[in-house]
Amino acid sequence: MDVRTFTVGPLQENCYLVRRDGGERALVIDPGEEAPRLLGAMEQLGVTPDAILLTHTHFDHIGAVAPIARATGAPVYCPRDELAVMRDPSAFYPPMFGPVEGWEAEHALDGGDTLQLDGLDVEVIATPGHSPGHVTFAIDGALFSGDVLFQGSIGRTDLPGADHATLMASIAALLERFDDETPVHPGHMGLTTLGRERATNPFLQALAGR
Ligand SMILES: [Fe+2]
Repeated sequence: MDVRTFTVGPLQENCYLVRRDGGERALVIDPGEEAPRLLGAMEQLGVTPDAILLTHTHFDHIGAVAPIARATGAPVYCPRDELAVMRDPSAFYPPMFGPVEGWEAEHALDGGDTLQLDGLDVEVIATPGHSPGHVTFAIDGALFSGDVLFQGSIGRTDLPGADHATLMASIAALLERFDDETPVHPGHMGLTTLGRERATNPFLQALAGR
């Protein structure tokens, strides 16, 4: 699997371009901003996106969804509980964050879904807490976890619809299910692993011994 990371926008959000090694079709995860740069990178790599996958719909993760969907025809897969936000972000976010263009997602995602896209098995795991419908994608043994877990930190839970205990339960479920070696591609900051965060992340000490 070939994973390219593009850190975009003022909040330094990570957009991922994921494909099989040498593949010409790719998945775009959380295109948060800078659509021209992302489209240019795909063109340079000779890659066509087949799907746009969203972990959640906070404005810093969806700013380039509409322009990329329109330019490429790639369908958008959005968590079911956050379809309304993707449809009309301006109804949810103050103008100071925007404007973020809305998009009617072609597919709704639920935890437990398994998608076959571009020869990759994409498992959709419900990981609410940071946002109500937040999902994590497990692809080829790696996690694309949006704003659930970061290097040395966890997703914030001071925003509407967030809940700290729910987030901790989501993280605990990931730690229980996946090996320590599992790579974690987060929505902000650098690549980490579940084991590294289990051992060193101060926010996970409450889960110690699990
Ligand atoms: Fe977020």
